[in-house]
Amino acid sequence: MKVLFAISLFLLANPLIFYNKLESEYPLPPPLKIDMPLEIAINRRASVREFSDEPVDDEKLSTILWAAYGYTKKGRTVHALDGYGAKIYVLKEEAVYIYNPKRHSLILFKEGDYRGIGQYEAPIQIGIAWNKDFDENLTSALIGQIAQNIAFTANALDLGTVVTVGMALNKIGLPSNETGKIIMPLGYPKYPYNFTYNPNILFPVLPLIKNSTMSLTEAIENRREATQFNGKLNLQEISQIIWASYGFSYYIDNSKSELNPIVRHRVLPSAHAYYPLCIYAVTEKGIYRYFAGLYRYYMWNLPVLHLLIKIRSGDFRGEVAKASSMPNIASAPLIIISVLDLRKAKGMIGLWDDFSSAKFRWLWYHEAGASAYNVLLEATAWNLSANIALPTDIAIIRSILRLNNNFLPLLIVPVSKVKNGSI
Ligand SMILES: Cc1cc2nc3c(=O)[nH]c(=O)nc-3n(C[C@H](O)[C@H](O)[C@H](O)COP(=O)(O)O)c2cc1C
Repeated sequence: MKVLFAISLFLLANPLIFYNKLESEYPLPPPLKIDMPLEIAINRRASVREFSDEPVDDEKLSTILWAAYGYTKKGRTVHALDGYGAKIYVLKEEAVYIYNPKRHSLILFKEGDYRGIGQYEAPIQIGIAWNKDFDENLTSALIGQIAQNIAFTANALDLGTVVTVGMALNKIGLPSNETGKIIMPLGYPKYPYNFTYNPNILFPVLPLIKNSTMSLTEAIENRREATQFNGKLNLQEISQIIWASYGFSYYIDNSKSELNPIVRHRVLPSAHAYYPLCIYAVTEKGIYRYFAGLYRYYMWNLPVLHLLIKIRSGDFRGEVAKASSMPNIASAPLIIISVLDLRKAKGMIGLWDDFSSAKFRWLWYHEAGASAYNVLLEATAWNLSANIALPTDIAIIRSILRLNNNFLPLLIVPVSKVKNGSI
C-alpha cells in the first residue's frame, strides 16, 4: 500500500513522464503543394549556412521529405540507378528519426539532441546515409537528386539548406551496413532571400530561359522516365534542357549572406565550388560542348555564357548508345553526357583540397546525379521525357567525345519527345 502511495505521489509530482514519452512512429501531415514554376525554383537554388532560431513546422518538413524521397502515384520522386540505397535521418531537438517513405512518417531512432554533429547550427539537420550493400557512386548520384529536391523545396518554402559532407552522421550510431554521406541543415535563413532577375548574357546563342507553366510540385509528382526515344527538339527546348543540366541562375543573390558571398549561383551545388563537370550534347547533327560561364566569375557577377560549341559533325548517337546501358537511345533527339574533368577536381593544389582520386569520386557522382535530375524535371515541365543511363564502355565514350584519360564520363541522359501524352 505504502509503495503504491509513493508511486502515485511520484507520478503526480512528475506529470511530464506521461507526456514526454516519444511515439515510436508518428505520421507526417500531407505535403504542401508548391505553386512556384520549376525554373524559378531552380534559379533560386543557393546554399544557406546561417539560420534564425525559428522552428520548422512538421507541414514544411513533411513537404521537404516527400520531395526528397517520397512516393508519387507513378513511383518515387527520385530516380533509382542502383536501387534506393539511401536512408534519411531527421535530427530534431528531442530525438533522431528515420524517414519512412512508404508510410510518410517518422520512426523514432534515438532520443536526444544530436544536431550538434552538423557543420552549421540549425533547428533541424537532415542526414543522408548510404547503405553499403549498394554501389557507392550510384547511390551518391541518387543522393544528389534527393539533395536537389531538399534544396528546391526548402528554398521555395523560404527555408534554407546546404549540402555538407556527412561522415559525422556516423556519430549517431548508424547500423554497421550504413555510413553517413551528407548532412543538410534546415531552417529559416538569417539573411532572407533577395533575388533580382538579371540574365546578363554574353553571346546568347541559345534562347533565353523561359518559365514553364509547371510548378515544382507538379514536376516532381509527374516526373517522366522515357523508355522510347524519338522526335526532334526545337532550340528553345534544347536551351532549357542544357541550362538545367549545368547552367547559371538568371538571378543575382542580394541576400548578403556572410558565409556565402556567391552572388550568382549555378543550378546545382558543387563541393568546394569546383564545378569540374563538362557537359556534352549529342544530337543528329553532331557533338557539342556546353559553355555556361567564365571560370569562377560567378563570385563577381560577370556575364553568363549560354552556348553550345560544336566539336564534331556527324551522327554519333548510335555509337554512344552501344557504349551505354540503354542501347535504344540511338534515336533520342538529344543525349546529354556529364564528364568529370579530373584536373578541375584537383582544385588549386596546395591551396585547396585535391578531390580527384577514386576515394572522392562519389562527390562528383552526387553532382552528376543532381545535373541529371534537373534534366528529368525540366524535360517533364516541357512535355518531354528523359532517363538516366550509364556508360558501359568508358574508352569508347572518351574516343567519341575526343577526350583523353583526364576525363571520366559519369552519366548519360537521353531526352525524347512525348508521343500522344505517353512516355
Ligand atoms: C557533395 C557536396 C559536398 C559539399 N560539402 C560542403 C561542406 O562540407 N561544407 C559546406 O559549407 N559546403 C559544402 N558544399 C556546398 C558548396 O560549397 C556550394 O555548393 C558551393 O560553394 C557553391 O555555392 P552555392 O551552392 O551557394 O551556389 C558541398 C556541396 C556538394 C555538392
